[in-house]
Formats: sequence, structure tokens, C-alpha cells
Amino acid sequence: MNRLRDLEIKPTQSALGAEIIGTDLSQPMPGELIHRLIKLWEKYHVIFFRGQSVSPERHIQISQWFGPRHAGYENMPILGDSTQPEMITISNVESDGLLGGGYIEPHQDGAYLPTPLAGAMMRAVEVPESGGDTSWSNLILAYQELPVMLKRKIRNLRVTATNIYAGKTSRTDLGGGKQFFAPDESPVYAHPLVRVHPATGKKILWVSPLNSERIEGVRNQIEANALLDTLKRHVDQDHLYYRHRWEAGDILIWDNRCCNHKRDAIPEGQRRVFYRTVIGGSRPF
Ligand SMILES: [Fe+2]
Repeated sequence: MNRLRDLEIKPTQSALGAEIIGTDLSQPMPGELIHRLIKLWEKYHVIFFRGQSVSPERHIQISQWFGPRHAGYENMPILGDSTQPEMITISNVESDGLLGGGYIEPHQDGAYLPTPLAGAMMRAVEVPESGGDTSWSNLILAYQELPVMLKRKIRNLRVTATNIYAGKTSRTDLGGGKQFFAPDESPVYAHPLVRVHPATGKKILWVSPLNSERIEGVRNQIEANALLDTLKRHVDQDHLYYRHRWEAGDILIWDNRCCNHKRDAIPEGQRRVFYRTVIGGSRPF
């Protein structure tokens, strides 16, 4: 256990994702193995481990292998909370649980930040019998599948994103538990519509159906809005997704720089308790 040569990688049959077998994340891990996990994260965008049992402290340590926690910006809360706790509870039943039980449309986490999150790590403790699946889509593949003319057209454009937990655009339907909603709007940052993955150099179509708001760099705003609608439909095609059916004991780490994620609703009366840390990101280029 926890030897590099025992590592087994089982890619999903979908556009991204791989299960990592042969590790016990609660036990000491050699540096070469951790380095390999980071490379697998960059390659498959979502990596997951089944049947794990780790303490909250160990959860934080593992998350920090992939990058430091998000430091936070003034007036730019994440999930409406400007205190940026190191680990949050995502649950439809716990009193401190965030995100409620409803469907959450595809999005990137913190797309509205000057430095959107590089990723996140989720630990599933209680899972519902049905519902609550999370799906990730591959925005590198989405870019590659664009027609050449469209690639050329969007080359130098920028896009802004809405913080849906702040100000007048707050989506209170996505609340639950102790969900915070900040009263003031977050400042707006425009990022490249086609960004380059800092680790792999691959081009990414940085569009999210839930929070991409406005394309900048096109003179005609009606045309820009139509273009954004087209791109939102493009990134939301079924074949771009991997759907994760959660099991208790799952640990999953995703690359937020090149994926959207969405969550299915959790049926009434079913319990779902997850813990999440986030990995700070760099400024998109
Ligand atoms: Fe999210």
C-alpha cells in the first residue's frame, strides 16, 4: 500500500476522470507518489479514491499537496462567506451545511474572483440512496471541438462572471443550512474566454452556464450575448461530462481550471453530508 508501483489508474469511460486504486490516504505517502497524484489530477481533471477514511486534519493536508487554501479577497466572499473557513460542510441535513438540496447548474467555483479556484477536494461521509450525483465537464475538449472559425473569433475576448451568493444576483434558491448571502455586489473581473491551463498549456473554453455573464471585446453587445448563449450550450453537451455516483468514503479532487461541475437534486428525506476544502488558483491567462 502507498507504493508507487502498486498504484492502479482506472480512467472512467467518460470525457474525463480516473479512479485511483492502491492508496490509503490516511497513511504516510512518499513524495514521488504525491507528485504522481498531482500529475494524474492535471491529466484526468477529476481523480477519486473509494473507501477512504481520513480525519478532517488529514483532509486539509491532502488538499494542500495540490495547492494552498484560497486566501480570500475583501468583498469577494465564497459561498457568501467572507471568513473563508478552511473546510466547509456541504449538506442538506447538517445545521452548518451549505448548498441545500436542489439542482445546481454547471459552473466553475469562484469564476468571479481575480484568481478563480484551482480546484477542490470533496469527502463524502453520508450519501443519499439516489440523487445528488455530481457531474464534471471537460472544457479543454469543449474548446477543441469548436469550429475553427469560432476559435478564431473568440481568440482575444474576455468574459466576466457573476458571484451568485452576493448582491442583487444572489440565488437564494441554492441555499440551505447556514448558507450566507453577501449584501454587496462583488467587483467584476474579466478573464480570457480562452484560457491556458497553467500546468499543461492546454486551451480551455472558460464559460459556465450558471455564472458567465458578459463577453467583453465585441463591439455589438447583442451579438456578444448571442455568442455567449451559443458557448454556454456548447459546454453543456452530455458527451463532455463525467457523472460521479458518490459512495460513502469517497475522496475526490477536481481541477476547477478546466471543468464545470453541476449537482443533481437530493430527494426529500435523504441525507447527504460532505466536507470540502478549496485549492487556491492563479490569475487566468
Ligand atoms: Fe461549485
